[in-house]
Amino acid sequence: MRIIQSESTADAISAVTTILMDKVNSHPSSVIGLATGRTMEPVYAQLVQKEANFQKSFFFMLDEYMGLPSNHPSSFKQYIKDHLLNPLKLNESQIAFPPVDKTDAGEYYEKILVEAGRVDVQLLGIGQNGHIGFNEPGSTKESRTRIVQLTEETRKANQSHFGEGEMPREALSMGISTILSAKSLVMLATGKSKADAIKYLLNHHDDPSCPATYLKSHPHFTLVLDPDAASKINLNI
Ligand code: GLP
Repeated sequence: MRIIQSESTADAISAVTTILMDKVNSHPSSVIGLATGRTMEPVYAQLVQKEANFQKSFFFMLDEYMGLPSNHPSSFKQYIKDHLLNPLKLNESQIAFPPVDKTDAGEYYEKILVEAGRVDVQLLGIGQNGHIGFNEPGSTKESRTRIVQLTEETRKANQSHFGEGEMPREALSMGISTILSAKSLVMLATGKSKADAIKYLLNHHDDPSCPATYLKSHPHFTLVLDPDAASKINLNI
């Protein structure tokens, strides 16, 4: 596990975009796993600003809410179109979205992931309760893409994206084992609200109550922290 403890949030964002840009510059046809959330918004803004060359890349979304029309403004599909695909004029055929309308959605997504080969770089955020994707506490290390129930804590944290509307109770998420199949993982955590989860992550291993701890067994896991997210740890580096 490699930890990049940045001196500012801007530096943390740049560290992540540099990893992605270096990857696509050396391997233009890389397969990249994309995460959503507020944390990733400045990452995508910077990739757009730097005109990242993703023309030959292929993308997989990490997760999606169940039960929303695909053009719902709060769907992750719409999020990634707004933040990355449309500004960079990428083609929708370059990205796989979790097939939330299919009955065998999990199995189908796993199949197309295998067909595409391994994800080269999987981008990840972290929930305040240590979830990754939508693998909530209690998820197993062996889990694959499946429909999951969202915890009340996660629903509360994401409610603001839905305004007065009702926040979904279920999502389709890549599983932990699916995520661990990627060649490399890059997690970004920014802000004080992530400090407890980061402290827990660094002090525990393979702990189902904090699914992010499973990532520490990956040989190429990079954790990028801004000063607030790192404020409860002492790395002495
Ligand atoms: C969301 C997503 C995750 C994301 C996390 C943190 O619900 N499913 O992929 O990493 O929660 O989101 P944020 O960056 O908004 O704090």
